[in-house]
Amino acid sequence: MARSLPTENTKTTTVLWLTGLSGAGKTTLADQVARDLRAAGQACFVLDGDNVRKGLSQDLGFSDADRTENIRRVAEVAKLMRDAGLTVIVALISPFRAERDAARTSIGNDHFIEIYLDTPLAVAEQRDVKGLYKKARSGELKNFTGIDSPYEPPLAPALTIHTETETPQQSAARVMQVLNVKGNR
Ligand code: ADX
Repeated sequence: MARSLPTENTKTTTVLWLTGLSGAGKTTLADQVARDLRAAGQACFVLDGDNVRKGLSQDLGFSDADRTENIRRVAEVAKLMRDAGLTVIVALISPFRAERDAARTSIGNDHFIEIYLDTPLAVAEQRDVKGLYKKARSGELKNFTGIDSPYEPPLAPALTIHTETETPQQSAARVMQVLNVKGNR
């Protein structure tokens, strides 16, 4: 008689999907969550606009169609990384609801946690870390999210982060709480 196989490790991992304007603080929060996860012994990886657009999506710009394709690619990579046992932290503007919903469907609702960085445009623009808002306002940069390209906030995010009133460490602690409740089941 065939022996039963060893019990599979039923712990599964999660995709944390951070959405918000450029300059909202997505990468800062993603990096802090990654530090917290590693400290807790969980392997993870951050996929953000900056690293993805240097390679995987280097052929894409910022038209609606290109953003849609960028988000689709990142969702597929996140899915593969999750299958490999990583907690994946995606930090993309991902401005369109339909594309975030498609990512959720592709990854699976049980493994997808949408986190909205609700930083007002005025605050992101004031920070203007990369000087891109200035260029967008002057017309030098076209299709800039929040200026001449739309951003559709999530309707029911698992978590909303207000980066003006809490530190990245505090925000990351809230993300970890949600992850412990919904993720890693
Ligand atoms: S997304 O819309 O496709 O999700 P993504 O997060 O990959 O965007 O890239 C956003 C980053 O690209 C911004 O943080 C900014 O540094 C840079 N960027 C350059 N041009 C634009 C633009 N037109 N709109 C938004 N971000 C831009």
